[in-house]
Amino acid sequence: MVIDTYKKLKTQFFDWLKKSELIELNDVDIKKDPVRPELTMDFRTKYGRKVYGLKDEEGEIAAVMCFAFTNQVPTTVEELDKFSQDAYLQSHFKSGQVGQIAIAYTVWSTKKGGGRRIVQEVYKMIKKSHHLNRLVTLSPLTDMARNFHLKNGAKELQVNKETQNFEYEV
Ligand SMILES: CC(C)(COP(=O)(O)OP(=O)(O)OC[C@H]1O[C@@H](n2cnc3c(N)ncnc32)[C@H](O)[C@@H]1OP(=O)(O)O)[C@@H](O)C(=O)NCCC(=O)NCCS
Repeated sequence: MVIDTYKKLKTQFFDWLKKSELIELNDVDIKKDPVRPELTMDFRTKYGRKVYGLKDEEGEIAAVMCFAFTNQVPTTVEELDKFSQDAYLQSHFKSGQVGQIAIAYTVWSTKKGGGRRIVQEVYKMIKKSHHLNRLVTLSPLTDMARNFHLKNGAKELQVNKETQNFEYEV
């Protein structure tokens, strides 16, 4: 009985997730980024890079995830910058689609459950894409990042000097 009530309350608590939607953001309060607050909005949007937000039923942004698109897996932010510029320049000679690997270099949430949900939503989007074939993270060397991605189904790709990469198989 107590367990049933707890389960019901838990389901109700996460009800907002069903009504949430993934949107592309042109602006975000970067000071709220606990992972890489030093990266400007310009950095996050140039060379085809994208910022996605999970909008809740009240229109508030409950989670944010930032992406760069590359053809190689970066192990530092400097490599992320370089590889995504390279992919962007190469794309001019192709169809305008930048890179084959989506690199998630930061994710944060302001509402419990938002983190997992935004990962699920971007995963679906990448799976549908015709030119992206990998979803890889460039994560900080923290237990929070490790536990979060492993719990959500990613596999450890490599642990680097300053970062770690996880991969969600697409
Ligand atoms: C890491 C981070 C993004 C996780 O986001 P979050 O929204 O708090 O966490 P989750 O999405 O994993 O969900 C939290 C809990 O809700 C639960 N939950 C999520 N959706 C649910 C649902 N539909 N029904 C029931 N439970 C649900 C999860 O199981 C999890 O439970 P647990 O804490 O008992 O394991 C967040 O803590 C954060 O912003 N951290 C700082 C930045 C950071 O370190 N980012 C990661 C590295 S880039």
